[in-house]
Amino acid sequence: MDLKSLRRLYKLVAEDWRLSQFWYDRQTAETIAAEVATLCETLSSPRVSCIACPTLYAYLKKIAPGVPAQLLEFDKRFEQYGTEFTFYDYNQPDDLPSALKHSFSIVVADPPYLSKECLEKVAETIRFLSRPGESYLLLLTGEVQKDLAAELLGLRPCGFRPQHSSKLGNEFRLFTSYSPGARLAQTFGELDQAIGLLSIAKSRLRRTTKV
Ligand SMILES: C[S@@+](CC[C@H](N)C(=O)[O-])C[C@H]1O[C@@H](n2cnc3c(N)ncnc32)[C@H](O)[C@@H]1O
Repeated sequence: MDLKSLRRLYKLVAEDWRLSQFWYDRQTAETIAAEVATLCETLSSPRVSCIACPTLYAYLKKIAPGVPAQLLEFDKRFEQYGTEFTFYDYNQPDDLPSALKHSFSIVVADPPYLSKECLEKVAETIRFLSRPGESYLLLLTGEVQKDLAAELLGLRPCGFRPQHSSKLGNEFRLFTSYSPGARLAQTFGELDQAIGLLSIAKSRLRRTTKV
């Protein structure tokens, strides 16, 4: 399939805020898709599941069309992705085809709500899907879920800050089960800010030591 046909097939639908749909901005979707594609290169038989993150699924298929990926989503408009779409309601976390059980080496999730109950149920789904002992987990959610993400799944936040095309009030983070190192370090904007603060501090220090 050429790139133009791929783009047509994996186009996104409009956000429906009643379903808590807030799509990533382009840089976020490309960064996470690139991270998933990099992880896939290190695995002998990669298989990716995208739980409630259709933008990530679409960008992943654009940059790595050969990677087997499954989108688990509540919104049936994504049935357009054919057999790689599975209907998913987080209220029934294990109500999924048995063929999906423990079959994914990479699991990415972006729960629809910031409640404890929602993350607990999505964590159950993540455990259902992931290959025991050999999977990479990535969770995109609010900073407020930091302690719960650590408690339920052993995840830690990394420097990269996900952004959305509609501005959201909550600070979002990417939590991972592994250390992505420099790949998902702070954004360039944050680094620029840090360098700026450092040079202000340096010049203040020079001024005070001269007195
Ligand atoms: C916060 S959005 C995450 C989307 C992501 N930022 C993206 O750009 O792909 C939450 C997702 O949860 C889905 N969703 C809504 N209600 C759901 C439910 N009951 N069970 C599972 N997913 C649901 C929405 O359709 C939406 O895709």
